[in-house]
Amino acid sequence: MVENKIETGEAAEAASPRKKAPRGRRLAIVGIAAVLVAAVGIGFWEWHETPGFCASICHNMDPYLETYLQEEGVAGVDKYGNAVSDTTALLSTRHRETNATGKPEIRCMACHHPVIKQQISEAVQQTTGGYEFPQTEPTLGQLTAWEGTEGTQFCVNSGCHSYLRGSDGLVDRKKLEESTSWMDFNPHAQHHENLKVECGECHKGHRASVMMCTGCHQHEGVSMPSGWVTKAEGDRILADAKANTHAPLS
Ligand code: HEC
Ligand code: HEC
Ligand code: HEC
Repeated sequence: MVENKIETGEAAEAASPRKKAPRGRRLAIVGIAAVLVAAVGIGFWEWHETPGFCASICHNMDPYLETYLQEEGVAGVDKYGNAVSDTTALLSTRHRETNATGKPEIRCMACHHPVIKQQISEAVQQTTGGYEFPQTEPTLGQLTAWEGTEGTQFCVNSGCHSYLRGSDGLVDRKKLEESTSWMDFNPHAQHHENLKVECGECHKGHRASVMMCTGCHQHEGVSMPSGWVTKAEGDRILADAKANTHAPLS
């Protein structure tokens, strides 16, 4: 046995009862096999890039695909199944629709960059059943931590809202404030120096966005874009989701 293993080259060929293909042909076979493996790999990678992939592998992704695939500007649902009066208030829906962004369809992975470490962690959770539904909602900071960047970077990637970047590559709060200066109650106004609001406290991907300022400002002038909810309503949605958390359905 051991001897067989260390037999190489001509000795091995001579010992083999089966006639080996000539070297050139063997190389060609190896070449074809390599191309096939690559093609399957590329095919997998392309499929992996499509929104349907996530949900076909992991059923706990269904609600995210569902919110994403809704039509924009109509009544719909959020990731927990709650009614949403205007799906424009869901970033995933709003960005999929090409008319809103003027770009080709923005897919899951344009927002959720496929970081290998994160994908391995998700694959482990999926195979061990170590997850719950609904998942605990991540902050943008938690989502971008996999890449080692700040939560504010989630929206300001090149090709996305990069016009909001300052020279340090981070969100320039002044530019951000100017981008919505047309609003009577500018949600990006830097009125409160010590109030550090994360973008994701208002902007939600798969549920109605929340006008968090209404936690204190309940006066009439506070603009509520269509479909958005107040801070109290947003808190209630999260509390309900938490109360209904269950182990994965088989
Ligand atoms: C207090 C709530 C709130 C916070 C916090 C917030 N936004 Fe907004 N943002 C809004 C509202 C309201 C709009 C206008 C409604 C809309 O277009 O969806 C808006 C619009 C935008 C737009 C579209 C503006 C444009 O260019 O037309 C971008 C981009 C944006 N926000 C990015 C950010 C980023 C990045 C952060 C964090 C640094 C952030 N927002 C934090 C409420 C907020
Ligand atoms: C426009 C950007 C955007 C797109 C496109 C997008 N998401 Fe998200 N996603 C978010 C944001 C923002 C969050 C943070 C939680 C939230 O706001 O709902 C999130 C959170 C998640 C989470 C974490 C769990 C949770 O409860 O929040 C999952 C899973 C997810 N998205 C899956 C998907 C899938 C699958 C698709 C495509 C079918 C998709 N997302 C498309 C922005 C996006
Ligand atoms: C923790 C409570 C609290 C939150 C949250 C809060 N504010 Fe305020 N805000 C106040 C108080 C109190 C005042 C009045 C005193 C002052 O001017 O600081 C005020 C005043 C203001 C003013 C001055 C004009 C006015 O309407 O009275 C603006 C503009 C403002 N806030 C914007 C915002 C924006 C935008 C947000 C959300 C990003 C926000 N605030 C969130 C408490 C809050």
